This record gives sequence, C-alpha cells and structure tokens, in this order.
Amino acid sequence: MNKLADLVIGDLIINPPIIQGGMGIRISASKLASAVANEGAMGVIAAAALGEDRPERNYVERSNLGLIDVITKAKELTSGPLGANLMYAMSNYDELVRVCLENKVDAIISGAGLPLRLPSLVKDSGIKLIPVVSSSRAADIIYRTWARKYDRVPDALIVEGPLAGGHLGFNFEELKNPDEFNIDRLLRDVLDVIKKYENLDNVRIPVIPAGGIFDGKDIARMLRQGASGVQIATRFVCTHECDAHVGYKEAYVKAKKENILIIHSPVGMPGRVIKNRFVERVLSGEKINFDCPYRCLKTCDPDKVNYCIADALINAYKGNFEEGFAMCGENTFRVDKIVSVKELINELVTETIEATRGR
Ligand SMILES: Cc1cc2nc3c(=O)[nH]c(=O)nc-3n(C[C@H](O)[C@H](O)[C@H](O)COP(=O)(O)O)c2cc1C
Repeated sequence: MNKLADLVIGDLIINPPIIQGGMGIRISASKLASAVANEGAMGVIAAAALGEDRPERNYVERSNLGLIDVITKAKELTSGPLGANLMYAMSNYDELVRVCLENKVDAIISGAGLPLRLPSLVKDSGIKLIPVVSSSRAADIIYRTWARKYDRVPDALIVEGPLAGGHLGFNFEELKNPDEFNIDRLLRDVLDVIKKYENLDNVRIPVIPAGGIFDGKDIARMLRQGASGVQIATRFVCTHECDAHVGYKEAYVKAKKENILIIHSPVGMPGRVIKNRFVERVLSGEKINFDCPYRCLKTCDPDKVNYCIADALINAYKGNFEEGFAMCGENTFRVDKIVSVKELINELVTETIEATRGR
C-alpha cells in the first residue's frame, strides 16, 4: 500500500483524505488552501473578516469582495478540491454563502452554531454542505431538520473534539474534562447516529473527525475507527504557505504546553489561544478601545465586551502581538518547525501508511 483510500464526498474525490481546517482570520486564505489542494487534499479558505482592506465600502460589500478575491486567487493557483469555512455566527452568513455559490467553491464547511438554514440558501447547486458538530446530538438535530424541511442530507459531517483550535463547541465545564468528550468517543457516537440514518434512508455520509489529530498514528487510529478522512488545522499553520505573518508561525513553534489556554471569546464560545501580554490584559478585564460600526457576529454585543476579537486576530495575522493573539489547537506545543505543505502532507501520509501496517 502506498496510497490511502480516497475521501469521497459525492463526486468530490479527496486524496490524501485530509481536509485542511478553515482558519479565520485570514490564516487560511488563498496561498495555504491552494497549496493543500495541489497535493490532492482539500484546501479550505476561512471567510471571516476578509474585507478590512476596503474601509470605503460597507461591511457586507467589502466582506463579499474580500472573499471573491481570495477564492479567485486560490483558483488561479489550483484546480484541486477547494472549500470555504463559514461560521454560522457571522451576521453576513447568507451573503457569504451566495458568494461561495457564485464563485463555485466545491464545499461549504459550517460550524460555530448549527447551520440549520443552510440548505435553503443553496437550493439545487452541486455545492457540498459539510456541517461541523461537537456532539452526536447536534449531528442528529441537523440531520433531522434538513431531512424534514429540505429533503436534504449533509454531504459529510465534521466532528470536532475539545482539543481543536479556534472556537470550541464545548462549555468551560466540559473543557475541564476533555477525556470525557475525547475525539474517539465523539467519533463513535456520531457514527452510531449517522449509521441509523444511512440504513434507514439508504444514503452515505462520510464522518470526518477533527481536533488534536497531530500525526499519522492519529490519522490511522481515526480511519480504523470508521472515519472517512480527518480535518487538521494546527499543523498547517507552521507551513511556509500559511497566509499568516511568519511571527504567527514562530509563536506556534515557541509555544509551550503551559502557554496554551482557553478564554471566553466575544463570539460567545470558549476559544483556545497562546498566552501573551495582550491575552493577560484582556483577561484582566482591561477595556481595549475599538470601533464597531458593523456587527460582524450575531453573537457579540460590542457594548458588553472589553475588546474586539476581529481586531485582535487581524493584528496577530499581521505579526502584531502587542495588540493581538493567536488562536491555536491544544497540540500546538508539539510543533517544532516550519515546513512546506508538500513536506507536511508527505510526512502525514507516510506515517499513516506505516501505522496502518502496524509498524
Ligand atoms: C488559528 C485557527 C483558526 C481557526 N478558525 C476557524 C474558523 O474560522 N472557523 C472554524 O469553523 N474553525 C476554525 N478553526 C478550527 C479548525 O478548522 C479545525 O477544525 C481544528 O482546529 C482542528 O484541530 P487541530 O487544530 O488540532 O488540527 C480554527 C483553528 C485554528 C488553529
């Protein structure tokens, strides 16, 4: 065996069976997503806060134009599988879905809330719809709602565990016991729910775990347990092609286990970050001035939060850690160098094949 089995999502063939997790804000844009797609895996653009370079336009227009730019650039660089990650909590979600349809990405991946209305926004287009869930209950609700209201099933499901990067679909109490919600158990629970519907409705829904999947041993373990592929984000930050400033990647390489912590995010969900002076200021309750003429998130109340998460993340993306911080996965402290996307994917595939052979 010198190749892993395809991840098949309808007529979309992904090999190696890896989805690069969407990383806002601007961490996964055209360079990273296209480099991943050129290796046959799925590259994913994150659609949050892409429009800030056009302050003269209103928020919806500049976000649309920013997303169009990134999709267009990515498509110039690859013809491989390309997805867009849209957080359901974004106030301009419907507009961004429309941009994805018009600019023909292969898939919309959608978490940070249950994307219950998503099928009504895409109608019969061939775009693949892939919700992100953090429990079998959420998978069940999405399946039943989509089937009842839209006669549609998810094309695949990503199940994200508590070790993931970015915003987390668990509360603080649950995050104190990450083992109770570990990805192996979550995968098993979601597969059980999905199998029931697959048998009943004669459909096939690939289930794709995410969160803390670090090396080929992890990938082999997930595939053995019934996953059709995996989603990985943290590892892709430390690639030359990742769209973030090199200082962001270096923050990952330098991070120690004790510097990785979970904070309350203005998004209304816990988020995992690398601790720095700015994080300490935010945690102390210091009010960091910001201007919010638009509301980018349905769930954020600018009058009640002490800083703007979009500002903080855009600053970090630009390498300004005086006024920003990096989001990250729990295993960030294990990353020790910056490599090319090709090297990373080759390493993951080789390790997975070896682990599958039992070496
Ligand atoms: C820097 C960073 C930003 C992220 N931003 C998003 C996002 O905008 N939307 C989303 O659905 N997931 C986001 N995630 C989660 C990833 O897509 C992915 O599912 C998760 O991080 C996988 O775990 P891993 O990082 O341990 O591989 C982000 C993750 C990281 C590390």
